[in-house]
Amino acid sequence: MKTLVFGSNGQLGSEISKRIKSIHINRKKNHNFDISNFNSVKKIIDKHKPKMIINCVAFTNVDKAEMYKKLCKQTNVLFVEMLAKICKINNILLIHFSTDYIFNGRKKGPYNEKSICKPLNYYGKSKLTAEQIIRKIDCKHIILRVSWLYNIRKKNNFIYKLTEQMKKKTIIFLPDDQFGSPTSVRFVTSILLKIISFYKKRNFPHGTYNLATGQPSNRYQIGLYLKKFLKTNNEIQPIKTYKIKSRAKRPLNSTLSTIKLQKILKNNLINWKNDLRRNLG
Ligand SMILES: NC(=O)c1ccc[n+]([C@@H]2O[C@H](COP(=O)([O-])OP(=O)(O)OC[C@H]3O[C@@H](n4cnc5c(N)ncnc54)[C@H](OP(=O)(O)O)[C@@H]3O)[C@@H](O)[C@H]2O)c1
Repeated sequence: MKTLVFGSNGQLGSEISKRIKSIHINRKKNHNFDISNFNSVKKIIDKHKPKMIINCVAFTNVDKAEMYKKLCKQTNVLFVEMLAKICKINNILLIHFSTDYIFNGRKKGPYNEKSICKPLNYYGKSKLTAEQIIRKIDCKHIILRVSWLYNIRKKNNFIYKLTEQMKKKTIIFLPDDQFGSPTSVRFVTSILLKIISFYKKRNFPHGTYNLATGQPSNRYQIGLYLKKFLKTNNEIQPIKTYKIKSRAKRPLNSTLSTIKLQKILKNNLINWKNDLRRNLG
């Protein structure tokens, strides 16, 4: 299935581009790629004529999204709308990534695909709007909602930042009231490969799915686990989220139920500790 990956140099895009045979598009390499210009996007798609587009382009800085709303909307909403329209006309499958930040985090227990979405910040709002647009345009699509994504080789994620802090700081404060499960790009890509294989055999329905590792925990506990694994001497201290200054509000509960996906793939997804060990080991 001829595949085009947009955003092939990001955390997830770079891993997908490495492991899935595809044409890689990113703004550093493709100077004619302009996410704000419909014709530029259409030209690239028309040139390559893919059967599947994997969109990894996103404005992912949650705090900056509050300040740069226009750019965030262009990247997370309007560009996705362009892709969905082009996919609809050309009968292309669109694989798109969304986030746990579409939820407000007040639910007790994990969110499933039918849970009510009420984002707390602009980033979450933009990602939810994109989901709604894709469903409205109704191109062939698979939306995968991922949570606490990390790529051990990139800097813009919780796990990388924590390992760096462990090298520099003696005491590290981590919230013990933010629950979720760190999910690596390696794991997401391996599940994506399964999804594509099922899809090719007509065994994977279009729609929206949660995709995350199992057995969620809080950031403080994750810090303790990482400290033990890396055998460092840091002191990890719990702190409450309200004491941490940040521009954007974040949901306290980011746990996602992956039962829908597991039923189709007939596969138990791994827990975050195994995933983390595989990435660090
Ligand atoms: N990171 C998380 O914790 C997290 C959690 C849940 C869901 N997600 C979702 O997972 C997906 C992948 O996230 P990620 O962490 O891999 O993101 P990322 O590392 O921030 O990568 C984003 C990609 O988008 C590109 N991009 C951003 N603005 C652009 C623009 N104006 N023009 C062209 N390209 C632009 C970036 O290109 P440059 O490298 O050139 O800037 C990069 O390739 C996203 O849909 C995200 O919303 C992420």
